[in-house]
Amino acid sequence: MNVLVTGGAGYIGSHTCLELLNTGHSVTVFDNLSNSSEESLRRVADLAQKEIVFVKGDILDNEALEQVFAQTQFDSVIHFASLKAVGESVSKPLEYYHNNLTGTVNLCYAMQNAGVKNLVFSSSATVYGLPKSLPLTEASPTMIHEVTNPYGRTKLMLEFVLRDWQTANPNFNVALLRYFNPVGAHESGQIGEDPNGIPNNLLPYVSQVAVGKLDQLGVFGGDYETPDGTGVRDYIHVVDLAAGHVLALNKLATNCGVVTYNLGTGNGYSVLEIVKAFGEASGKPIPYKVVDRRPGDIAACYADPALAKSELGWEAKRGLKEMCVDGWRWQSQNPNGFNA
Ligand code: NAD
Ligand code: WQD
Repeated sequence: MNVLVTGGAGYIGSHTCLELLNTGHSVTVFDNLSNSSEESLRRVADLAQKEIVFVKGDILDNEALEQVFAQTQFDSVIHFASLKAVGESVSKPLEYYHNNLTGTVNLCYAMQNAGVKNLVFSSSATVYGLPKSLPLTEASPTMIHEVTNPYGRTKLMLEFVLRDWQTANPNFNVALLRYFNPVGAHESGQIGEDPNGIPNNLLPYVSQVAVGKLDQLGVFGGDYETPDGTGVRDYIHVVDLAAGHVLALNKLATNCGVVTYNLGTGNGYSVLEIVKAFGEASGKPIPYKVVDRRPGDIAACYADPALAKSELGWEAKRGLKEMCVDGWRWQSQNPNGFNA
């Protein structure tokens, strides 16, 4: 298939591009590089020993979108392009609504005009807000007032936008993929997550402690109702996540309409379990201190991934150890990310 990947130079996008190339697809990436570097795509092309087309462009720029669709007849689009920092979305809500909502609507127009009818969308477990019960299934409630930040609301709103779009165009197909907590890196150590500034997410923070860039981890809360009092999440290896996108494309090719899948492992690990596993993987114990809870955090969140298994034939293959070992390989080989 000819696949357009928006945001393909980013963390999950670059791993998905590699998976697409390795499974015989042709890939064009459309990315404004606002949170990534073209170096990730050079490395993807090297790893796959295949070409990848890169177009520097913004989903807010309708002309640029039109041009990219005019150049190639795509079979499908995978749409990663998005702003994604939870804290920043609270202080810059309009930027988030504009980039994520307007940008996605622009993309849908461009697809419609070009007659491209298959779309995979990066949604998030954040749409479940405060879980009523665990594990979360795709039928678990999603309530906009329970999503705790503007970033998360853009994801839930866009799920509705895309459903409405498909209802009006029944020959279109949309896969809403709700990712849990993507971590780790490709086993080569060549591509991985390269956050700007001090990381907000746990794994990048822990890896920067291990590599000596940060002194110690602040564990956000030690008094949750979880086995050890720290927050529990469903961490999923980014390469497993990437494979889910390729299978989602195959599903869309069956004219399935709108489908929604949780992409998680079904296992929850606490912050302290992550600290221990990463210390073992890196051979460097991670100093930490329990501090106040982070506003907006929930105690625990993990998926029931059964639907993706039965309908996509997808299942996470890599466990916590591989997530940490591969994440550490990337971090230790690229202490300054792609700017080394
Ligand atoms: P990322 O920031 O590494 O990748 C996003 C890419 O989109 C970047 O390369 C950025 O330059 C590009 N981009 C942003 N705005 C753009 C615009 N207006 N035009 C063109 N390109 C633009 O993030 P990621 O972690 O790879 O996330 C990919 C997708 O998955 C996002 O939609 C994100 O919301 C979603 N998601 C991520 C996580 C996570 O924890 N990483 C969890 C759930 C969902
Ligand atoms: C994991 C656990 C923290 C940092 C976020 C977004 C979500 C999704 C994925 C995109 C929690 C604890 C963290 C630290 C800590 N993104 N922690 N010290 O919050 O589950 O999800 O990223 O859609 O929308 O909210 O991930 O990695 O930030 O936190 O103790 O320095 O680690 O409290 O329990 P989270 P995270």
